[in-house]
Amino acid sequence: MTLALLTALYALATPPTPNDAESAAVDRADAAARALGTTLKARVAEELGKGGPVGALAACNTQAAALSAGVAAQTGVTVGRSSLRLRSAANTPPVWVAEWLTLQGERPAAAATPLTTVVDGKARVIKPIAVEAPCLLCHGAPESLSPEVRAELARRYPADQATGYALGDLRGALWAEADITPPRVR
Ligand code: HEC
Repeated sequence: MTLALLTALYALATPPTPNDAESAAVDRADAAARALGTTLKARVAEELGKGGPVGALAACNTQAAALSAGVAAQTGVTVGRSSLRLRSAANTPPVWVAEWLTLQGERPAAAATPLTTVVDGKARVIKPIAVEAPCLLCHGAPESLSPEVRAELARRYPADQATGYALGDLRGALWAEADITPPRVR
């Protein structure tokens, strides 16, 4: 028998250890955070094409929370996104995400450190969110925004802090938290 086959048979015969359950939970959290990022980005692009920045703003306003809830329902993982400079109070971070945001501070997204950790029976993942070109339509320097976008932001988000970003800036965090399911006993 080859060594590879022996190793495979041994793996089959060994019940999952807590570490297997932990890394499975980390993988689920990671996949859910990615799914949320991809879904939101695709939806913003679609809405920008359909209704321009003002239409997309209205869509973000009403759909972002539902999209997060949808990913959570599909994956069984709690997900969200947040920032040091919030537009919507609905994106207020959990304490552990707030700690990460404060630790990173304002910096280029490429210089931010992603987080993967296992705490209190949960796997937690944080991914930095970078400001890309289309984001500047609604998160760029106030004087660079169109008058329509500025007016719409003032109307919908009187306490908006999420403008003044430049390309490549750290905009915030995509976060996910998954329960670690105990290993099956055989
Ligand atoms: C059409 C306008 C628009 C565009 C373009 C846009 N956003 Fe936003 N963004 C919003 C609005 C409105 C909210 C608040 C509602 C929500 O989505 O939760 C928001 C919220 C956020 C939040 C959550 C934290 C907070 O401040 O509430 C992050 C993070 C974010 N945007 C990142 C981005 C990134 C990254 C891009 C580019 C890929 C982008 N946005 C493009 C309008 C926009």
